[in-house]
Amino acid sequence: MDENHIPSITRMELIELLNQDLSLEVHSVTCYVNSSRRINDNSALAESLKLHAEEEITQAMTIAAQIDALGGAPAIAQMPANRTEMPDDMLGRELESEAASISRYRKRVEQCEMLGELEVAQFIRRILAQDMEHFSRLAAMLTESGALQSEA
Ligand SMILES: [Fe+2]
Repeated sequence: MDENHIPSITRMELIELLNQDLSLEVHSVTCYVNSSRRINDNSALAESLKLHAEEEITQAMTIAAQIDALGGAPAIAQMPANRTEMPDDMLGRELESEAASISRYRKRVEQCEMLGELEVAQFIRRILAQDMEHFSRLAAMLTESGALQSEA
């Protein structure tokens, strides 16, 4: 990288962006909790959604810790969970949300690196890898969701 390169964001802006990420993670937890309870059985699908909810809580805690490490304060998230009726829409909603997270975190890793916050970048990279796993699992569930739809 060019030694004279000027970071395009400040540390305060990074904290603000991570707080937005935190709000979205908390929102994502409520979506997965909602989805898993609406399926409300012991199927592999319900179990995967529960696992995602638990992993998203851990991601939210990790982001909060990074905000703290940067000298910021984790904000309180206020976001309504949106509701859809069909299991297929539910999975589509989660898939879209994970795709958005992946693109946000790719950018966030670059921003952390630009600011020389390599340890924070490393934590975000782990969250990114986990959201990529969530995305792949959801895409596989959606592929199999023809079976779900025909049962409905
Ligand atoms: Fe996430």
